[in-house]
Amino acid sequence: MALFRWDNSYSVGVAEIDQQHQQLMALINELNDAMSQGKGRQAVGEILGKLISYTARHFSDEERLLSQHGYPEYEGHKAKHAKMVDKVKALQKDVDSGKLTVSADVMKFLQDWLSKHIKGTDMKYGSFLNGKGVH
Ligand SMILES: [Fe+2]
Ligand SMILES: [Fe+2]
Repeated sequence: MALFRWDNSYSVGVAEIDQQHQQLMALINELNDAMSQGKGRQAVGEILGKLISYTARHFSDEERLLSQHGYPEYEGHKAKHAKMVDKVKALQKDVDSGKLTVSADVMKFLQDWLSKHIKGTDMKYGSFLNGKGVH
């Protein structure tokens, strides 16, 4: 069962970014499925790895777009991304070493992490980019 479901409240009004956010949600759902099906540490670790690399790619695409258009809050936004990547990498390290198992709590953390970032931080650049002709 999907943990994360896309709806319009997640739309930042930029098609490419919305698509990438949907892909991130799909990866979180994939991880949740693997966790709830009791898949092993290796399978779970692989999906977590995919989530991290896609997140890094998404953040760099987003940052490129924001810097290209001179977004005034670019530096702060970039710093938030770096902090998020650090957190999830720390989580991955603990999962890899067996110190942590991906549980419903971990899934909730990842879901909140993405959801709050999209709705609280990404949402702020939507009208700015739209004003620059980016849709
Ligand atoms: Fe962002
Ligand atoms: Fe984003």
